Amino acid sequence: MAILEVSDLKQYFYLEPTFLAKLVSGKKPRIIKAVDGMSFSIEPGEILGLAGESGCGKSTCSLAIAKLRDPTGGTIRYKGQDISKMSKPEIRKYRSEVQLIFQDPYESLNPRYTAFDTVAEPLRALTDKNKAEIRDRTFETIAMAGLDPEEYKNRYPHQMSGGERQRVGIAQALVLEPELVIADEPLSMLDVSIRAGILDLIRDMSERMNFSCIYISHDLSILSNISERLMIMYLGRIMELGVTKDVITEPYHPYARALIAAVPIPDPAYKRPIPNIKGEVAQPIDPPPGCRFQTRCLEVMDICGNTAPPLKEIKPGHLVACHLY
Ligand SMILES: Nc1ncnc2c1ncn2[C@@H]1O[C@H](COP(=O)(O)OP(=O)(O)O)[C@@H](O)[C@H]1O
Ligand SMILES: [Mg+2]
Repeated sequence: MAILEVSDLKQYFYLEPTFLAKLVSGKKPRIIKAVDGMSFSIEPGEILGLAGESGCGKSTCSLAIAKLRDPTGGTIRYKGQDISKMSKPEIRKYRSEVQLIFQDPYESLNPRYTAFDTVAEPLRALTDKNKAEIRDRTFETIAMAGLDPEEYKNRYPHQMSGGERQRVGIAQALVLEPELVIADEPLSMLDVSIRAGILDLIRDMSERMNFSCIYISHDLSILSNISERLMIMYLGRIMELGVTKDVITEPYHPYARALIAAVPIPDPAYKRPIPNIKGEVAQPIDPPPGCRFQTRCLEVMDICGNTAPPLKEIKPGHLVACHLY
């Protein structure tokens, strides 16, 4: 059984017009459809990659799954149970089993907490371990995250580098041995030189602790490396979903094709094809009916302007939302 099942997830935000605009032209609030009907599932132990450009709704989706924000619509089932219908004790259990690794290790850590307190905090809040058990487990997890506990236990975030902070953030996420980890662009704020080390840490941990993971990134070369299945998203919707190797080597959706063609190839002789995409990144504000990608697609047809293509299976396990197929 899938550990997590998301169906028709929607998260809308309402942009209220100014008082004057409302008075003068009777303007209605504008709707930002940050996530608009996403359905997917994650199997136990699987790493599912989520790719898409900035603003397409990746973080909004992860906040809803982590139950940090109630979605506008749709359901999220964890081990078969609807997370919006959980009792207080069930929510507590959910919070201990599902963890987020945040993008920005400068913002996500409490500046008043030492590394020890940061990592010990979930143990104190969500378990009934005694002091000695908390100390042992905290030390063990800090060491597992690649830092010397004796050296780092009393350090505050401002006394650590970005990579060290991110290791502390990862230790905090893993200290309770979660079953599902959502890593929301955990490398994007870090120096290129230390990214590989943090990526290896997450991969090693996922193998050792065998948690399921949604790994979010806008970098397809990282995702092709770490994820078993890959989901490509554009303006709140899933455009393509399949086994990573299949999606990378044989993308179907025009957006997926453009995105994959843009992955850097480390060869000076390589001549990049002209990108098969037009226009600029659109905004999910009051989106028009039909396909979200229609304004940028070079293969746009009449139907794309009025009917949103459903995500359908065009090969076993390979799903695409495009009227071309
Ligand atoms: N709290 C919010 N209020 C209004 N709009 C929001 C809010 N959070 C996100 N958005 C908008 O929703 C869209 C998706 O944002 P986000 O999920 O952060 O994208 P990503 O993580 O893919 O970069 C963006 O257009 C963003 O401006
Ligand atoms: Mg984000």
